[in-house]
Amino acid sequence: MDSRRRFLGAAAAGGLLGSSHALFGRTSRYSDIEGRIARRDFRDLCKEDLPTPCMVVDLEIFERNLRTMAEHCRTKGIELRGHVKVHKSPDIARRQMSLGGVGVTCATVAECELMAGAGIKGVLLTRQPASRNNIARTVALAKKEPTFGTVVDDPLVAGWLQEAAAAEGVKLRTVVDIYAGLTRHGIEPGAPAVELAKKVDAAKNLRLLGLMGYSGAASHTKGWEQRKKKSADDIAGLLETVGMARQAGLPVEIVTGGSTGTYNIDSEGKGLTELQAGSFVFMDTMYRRIGGRDDPAVYGDFGAALTVMTTVISKRHPRQCTIDAGNKALLRPTDEVKGRPEVRVQNQGAEYGILEWSDADKDFQLGGRVELYPTNLDMSTNVYDRYYVARGEQIVDVWPIMGRAGAAQR
Ligand SMILES: Cc1ncc(COP(=O)(O)O)c(C=O)c1O
Repeated sequence: MDSRRRFLGAAAAGGLLGSSHALFGRTSRYSDIEGRIARRDFRDLCKEDLPTPCMVVDLEIFERNLRTMAEHCRTKGIELRGHVKVHKSPDIARRQMSLGGVGVTCATVAECELMAGAGIKGVLLTRQPASRNNIARTVALAKKEPTFGTVVDDPLVAGWLQEAAAAEGVKLRTVVDIYAGLTRHGIEPGAPAVELAKKVDAAKNLRLLGLMGYSGAASHTKGWEQRKKKSADDIAGLLETVGMARQAGLPVEIVTGGSTGTYNIDSEGKGLTELQAGSFVFMDTMYRRIGGRDDPAVYGDFGAALTVMTTVISKRHPRQCTIDAGNKALLRPTDEVKGRPEVRVQNQGAEYGILEWSDADKDFQLGGRVELYPTNLDMSTNVYDRYYVARGEQIVDVWPIMGRAGAAQR
């Protein structure tokens, strides 16, 4: 096709506003959004009013996800210490606690400080603190909030933590992190793990709380049967170590692990006492594609509650349009357009994305909104500073996303 024919005429492009600009009558509705959020005045504030790209939470689906997990835990007699790295929101953590959560798990000391500062009890740091900075802040946190604890996977770090905790006169809750198939952390199961647990138990300023094994490689294993097998294989060493530690007379109050992908696998039997699942609150396309027990194509135990809302900003070519989200918004080809799963997504630089489709009868409107399900929650939520919470089209709340990566937040 020659380059001129690839362009559409202005009339064919159509548009949200058409030829009349009547919609520009009440501009204050669009320009005073920050003031209204500060006053928590959400009356008549709709998704249409929001600047884009932005993150929108479908409250109904989100609440259903929380209830589904809480109900699962109640039925199976297992606790939930949900991972916050996917959402970084004290508002969400509080909602999980009110549904029976025993605490939250965090990936960074900054997240722990944020959650404990927001009044959340039972915060567990799931990445061993190894720098002087992180060790000092871990101990300071335990001094302020005695229900806070950390994991450790190395006797050397256990020694450093003991020394720092002793200097502050603190007793630090400590969980031994055991390798469970992910070669990024965790001490070897069996004798080495038991030795470390004994060292922690014997340390005057550490209190052995239990054992952790995060089978992160099982969480996204495609296919129900394959995932079941992978998870069982990956946590076998952890479960064997639990038995050995108890036999050695060590106190193992908690055995923590699991994920959104394995929540209903790891809660069978008498293995884990608690789950660390996080992504189920919103879900992302990476998770939806792992397949579920009943549907090999879509993992539908939890609904897709989070979208990145964008605007169609240009439409000069057939069967494609440009949206205002690109690399900075972490747009990816594996994102999915809400209501139009057949549409292909491409990023086109820092601030632009392209949507392409084949069916000439289906179109997007210039100035119209398009919502995308993100590929990976952790990365996407990290580049936004708030969730707009919607019931249908109406905005009913705004939750800040806090403790994000960046010099000031570390
Ligand atoms: C240590 C740990 N536990 C639990 C989770 C939660 O997993 P998910 O978000 O897949 O439910 C993660 C996520 O990466 C993690 O790193």
